Amino acid sequence: MLSRDEVFRELGIGPAWRLRAPAPGQPASPLTAHRSPITTWDQLADAVAHCTACKLSSTRTQGVLGVGDRNADWLIIGEAPGADEDRLGEPFVGQAGKLLDAMLAAIGLRRGDNVYITNVLKSRPPGNRNPEPDEVAACRPYLLAQIELIQPKLILALGRFAAQSLLDTDEAIARLRGRVHRFRNVPLVVTYHPAYLLRNLPDKARAWEDLCLARRTMQSLIPES
Ligand code: URA
Repeated sequence: MLSRDEVFRELGIGPAWRLRAPAPGQPASPLTAHRSPITTWDQLADAVAHCTACKLSSTRTQGVLGVGDRNADWLIIGEAPGADEDRLGEPFVGQAGKLLDAMLAAIGLRRGDNVYITNVLKSRPPGNRNPEPDEVAACRPYLLAQIELIQPKLILALGRFAAQSLLDTDEAIARLRGRVHRFRNVPLVVTYHPAYLLRNLPDKARAWEDLCLARRTMQSLIPES
């Protein structure tokens, strides 16, 4: 599990950093210069709402932090808000969200009940284009702070983009699914993105296998009472 110091290090805001001016000739990091340590949900929500760390801040309607149980065992991570999410301020509220809710229900889970849902990016890429590396880097501290606050037992990564960026790999999703990875020591299972499944029905069977793997993994983590 990520320690508070590790989160601060990722944010570039350790105590020493705050005291020190940038080295001569080195600009202050545009990603961190204006940030203060995030150790509470209020700080995180405020930081996401007012974030200008990447160009998406000029086109989004609002930052979309996440939704659900802030003490959840299950953390679901998608790609980025789409048009509906950007408008309503909640992840996975469109057609893909409906399918996600059905996928969760299939393994006995419900949005908001021991489940927290978020995205790698908190701002919508215009036209739903793919996230760009600088945008992922700018948003990463928020995801790390979120994981540190939630302390989930398991992460379910939805789709190629979330899986590849969390696992820092360019392996195809077909190779990443079917086994348990770790992100900062938290078990991580990869499955297809619900929006992809809406267009590729035959892969629903594989997604079901992934959900069963996730459920088995979670069961193995919870001591029997
Ligand atoms: N797709 C995502 O990856 N996230 C959302 O919130 C909605 C659609």
